[in-house]
Amino acid sequence: MEVIIRPNADAAAALVARIIAKELRANPHLVLGLATGRTMESVYRLLAQMHRKEGLDFSLCSTFNLDEYVGLAPGDPHSYRHCMNEHLFQRVNVEPRNTHLPNGQAPDLDAECRSYEAAIAKFGGIDLQLLGIGRAGHIGFNEPLSAFKSRTRVKALAPLTLEQNAEFFGGADKVPRRAITMGVGTILESRRCLLLATGEEKAEIIAKAVEGPITSMISATALQLHARCTVVVDEAAASRLEGSEYYRRIFATEPEWEEFRNSN
Ligand code: F6R
Repeated sequence: MEVIIRPNADAAAALVARIIAKELRANPHLVLGLATGRTMESVYRLLAQMHRKEGLDFSLCSTFNLDEYVGLAPGDPHSYRHCMNEHLFQRVNVEPRNTHLPNGQAPDLDAECRSYEAAIAKFGGIDLQLLGIGRAGHIGFNEPLSAFKSRTRVKALAPLTLEQNAEFFGGADKVPRRAITMGVGTILESRRCLLLATGEEKAEIIAKAVEGPITSMISATALQLHARCTVVVDEAAASRLEGSEYYRRIFATEPEWEEFRNSN
C-alpha cells in the first residue's frame, strides 16, 4: 500500500483523476471500477473536464460500479445508476452499454449478484478500482464483518452507513436497508486499487484502515493485502496517520510520482 497526502481535497481529487486518466490513455480498453458518494463527485467533474478540454477518450473503456441500493429503480434520483449518469456517464463518451451497475430491482437478487460477477469476469476483470471509504470502514457496502473472500452479494447496511447516507434521503429511516455490493474478494481481485478519502471526519478511519491491524470489522483493512493499492488523502484525512513523514518523502522523491508532483 502507498499513501499520498495532498494539501487539500481539490488537490487529492485532482491527483486521483490524473491517475485514472493516465491509466486510460495507456489502455483505452480499461475496465474501470467506480464508486459513488460525495468524495467521488469532484473526481468525476475533473474527468468530465479532461474529456472536454483534453479529449480524454472513454469510448473503448467499460465500467463496473461497486454497488447499488436494493429496491431502487435505475431512474430513481437516489439510485447510484442515476447518480453515475448525472455525474459521469452523460458527461463523457463512454458507451452506455459498457457501463454496469447491479440491478437493485432484479426479481432474483442472488442471480443478479452471480451474473454481475460473471460480467466482470467476461470483461477480463477490473483493471483499476476506484474506492471511497465509509466512516465504519466499508469499501463498497462491505459493512463490518464482511468476509475477505466475499463476492458480490446483498448486504444489510450498518447503522453508521444509514446515518452517513441519511441526508440524501431526508432521514436515516428512509435509506434503503440493503444494497448489492461487490465483495471484498471481488475488490481484491482488481489489478489496482485507488482509494480517495478527504476531510477530518475520515481521519480516524483512514488511520485504522492504513496502519491498524487487519480485521473484517473494517473491510478497508483488507486493502493492506492488495499488491497494488494507492491511498490518496488530503491533509485533514491524513491528520491521524503516524507514518505521514515517510509517506510524504515517497511522494516527494520516488520517480514514479514525479509527473504528478505539481498537480493540483
Ligand atoms: C459507494 C461506496 C461507498 C462510499 C463511501 C464514502 O459506491 O462504495 O463505499 O465510497 O461510503 O462515501 P462518501 O464519499 O459519501 O463519504
